[in-house]
Amino acid sequence: MELYLDTADIAEVKRLARIYPVQGVTTNPSIIAKGGVPVWEVLTQLRAALGQGSTLFAQVMARTADEMVAEAQQLSEYSPGIVVKVPVTMEGLAAIKQLNTLGIPTLGTAVYSAAQGLLAALAGAIYVAPYVNRVDAQGGDGIQTVRELQTLLQLHAPHAKVLAASFKTPRQALDCMLIGCGAITLPLDVVQQFLAAPAVDAAIDKFEQDWLGAFSSLSL
Ligand code: E4P
Repeated sequence: MELYLDTADIAEVKRLARIYPVQGVTTNPSIIAKGGVPVWEVLTQLRAALGQGSTLFAQVMARTADEMVAEAQQLSEYSPGIVVKVPVTMEGLAAIKQLNTLGIPTLGTAVYSAAQGLLAALAGAIYVAPYVNRVDAQGGDGIQTVRELQTLLQLHAPHAKVLAASFKTPRQALDCMLIGCGAITLPLDVVQQFLAAPAVDAAIDKFEQDWLGAFSSLSL
């Protein structure tokens, strides 16, 4: 499966990409705005940090299809291979169709229902991003939305993949992976919580104590 970091924090991407098996980085306008660094500079630095084989995602800001397409072309020319995130609105859907004919890969974002996501895939998006936590926060069931979307894509748009997004807890991410989700993007705090169990450190401390007790040194 594909694992992405949902961030524009370059220093953290550099640090964590050495450790975690990540394929790339997803961003959105709020994430870019939080860092206060222009998207172009973020993309340059992310590419330098992750290398050519990585996948980067950046979102258009425009609200009309023609403007979205123009922005997507700019992003694609600036950072070849980038996947352009397009909100799945009526205009967004029209933009995804146009971008598909232009050969610019897209991700349908701001997806709150399986049917909405399917439309993005049918229009040509290669990824669809359901917002798990935001669906939960609305009183819905984010994991069920992912499950339904996966089924719809398998049945009707097998070229497209669910890239589940919007996670606040490791449990949400785990549930998503357990139902077979093939791609997921996680915020830094969530991805780090997978390795943050105090019992793990305690177990390693005990190994060291036992070894030192027997051999008076930690070397093999
Ligand atoms: C990613 O593509 C989404 O933009 C992001 O995961 C949304 O996350 P949030 O709901 O935590 O803002």
